[in-house]
Amino acid sequence: MTLASTSCRWVLAACLSGLSLTTLAAQPQEISPGQRYYEKICSKCHEAGIGPVLKGRGLAPETVVAFARIGVNAMPAFRVTDIDDATLYDLGVFLSKSQPLAAPKQ
Ligand code: HEC
Repeated sequence: MTLASTSCRWVLAACLSGLSLTTLAAQPQEISPGQRYYEKICSKCHEAGIGPVLKGRGLAPETVVAFARIGVNAMPAFRVTDIDDATLYDLGVFLSKSQPLAAPKQ
């Protein structure tokens, strides 16, 4: 084995272990794609008094999916090009398990 190939392996090993450490460290704060979409889009109405509160109501994921795909009155319908099926279902699961919002301060 040449010296060059040995040091290449060390560099590779260092990079790989560095990568896996980064991945592990990132996990605790990770939010799911559905939750991210909710926070970015849905909460702008549903936590702003424009739409009804959705958190902590034990809504079934299928209910959330149906409302989002069809739309209702002032709420626009979300197409597959807006949010794909897997992400929308994930969003529904996130809402079904969510805690109620804290009561607004008086
Ligand atoms: C532009 C504001 C707006 C956005 C963005 C929005 N909604 Fe709504 N949503 C509403 C309004 C307003 C209603 C109530 C419509 C009515 O009953 O007249 C509603 C109703 C709902 C309902 C029915 C709740 C109930 O108690 O009747 C669900 C479920 C829902 N939205 C899910 C979502 C999801 C999921 C998203 C994000 C993908 C989303 N909404 C984004 C405005 C919005």
